[in-house]
Amino acid sequence: MLILSIESSCDETAAAVVEDGRVVRSSVVHTQIAEHRKYGGVVPEIASRRHVEQICDVTARALSDANLALSNVDAIGVTAWPGLIGALLVGVNYAKGLALASGKPLVPVHHLRGHVAANYIAHPDLEPPFLALIVSGGHSHICDVSDYTRYEIIARTRDDAAGEAFDKAARVMGYPYPGGVSIDRAAQKGDPYAFKFPHPTVGDSLDFSFSGLKTAVINTIHNLRQKGELPEAAERVEEIEANQTLMNIAASFEETVCEILVDHTRAALRRTGRKTLTVAGGVSANTGLRAALEKMCAEEKTRLCMPPLSLCGDNAAMIGAQAYYEYRSGARAGADLNASATMSI
Ligand code: KG4
Ligand code: ZN
Repeated sequence: MLILSIESSCDETAAAVVEDGRVVRSSVVHTQIAEHRKYGGVVPEIASRRHVEQICDVTARALSDANLALSNVDAIGVTAWPGLIGALLVGVNYAKGLALASGKPLVPVHHLRGHVAANYIAHPDLEPPFLALIVSGGHSHICDVSDYTRYEIIARTRDDAAGEAFDKAARVMGYPYPGGVSIDRAAQKGDPYAFKFPHPTVGDSLDFSFSGLKTAVINTIHNLRQKGELPEAAERVEEIEANQTLMNIAASFEETVCEILVDHTRAALRRTGRKTLTVAGGVSANTGLRAALEKMCAEEKTRLCMPPLSLCGDNAAMIGAQAYYEYRSGARAGADLNASATMSI
């Protein structure tokens, strides 16, 4: 079964053709990062406007790269939730138009389930049940995935998402957007034990809380700036990127985030008895996190599945992979499909 999929939930306009949920026939991603970098983060209205401009071309390229016409695909999959509402509406409305024009079924896909499905592409023998650590710009979840479309949330963040903490800490440090990649790069040259940051827990639950950690990093930076020991964020990026103290803060921050994610995931594995862990979302590209999860999973004798870096960020191939399983479980949308900024997984 061939699915043409569309993704426009944030700042990537993407389309792909995926066969039977596993084989990528084509995948086109148009990223807007360079434009949003000027503002230090995603500007929702600009994102929507760029999606409107790009979506026809991106989709046409996905079909032509796969040597297919719209009439050759069997269904249209689209990210319908969650995300920036104006951005989502562009993809949803376009996918509806394609479905109406072609008479093909329309399948709505949850963006985070899509991130998890990137693992079906990368690991052809992976099947539920498994535990999923989902760490993106807007969400941090540990889910028990008992079937392709059955998710139970074991832990969630009470405040900031992991990616959001990376982005906000990076912004205060003066690193360019997107902050996660900048901190990842800087952390590799820093001392992860130079600074001690808090490791917040939420009672007995496995829930996350990253806002206290973020505030601790921000306070550390402000104190060092007041003492003249750190450059101001507005100074030249080259100077910021060459500063060893900032590299040490980046490394210590990343180390703390990884410890929190790994500790909670280890506890969730033990609690549920699952022996396979998948990782998903933009933060799954983080070098330190990947290494820490490998170590933990070896200790726990658990199979670890992570997407390749090319499938960690937003793309439509992962949406096409999940759309296949949603289709098989009966999900269909009509001409009244609407996008939603929020939606439980
Ligand atoms: O999944 P994603 O591409 O978009 C959402 O669905 O939110 O995730 C984006 C998030 C951003 O917060 C970004 O800073 C973070 O993923 N990120 C990283 C890395 N690459 C992207 N965080 C840490 N290390 C990275 N290498
Ligand atoms: Zn995403």
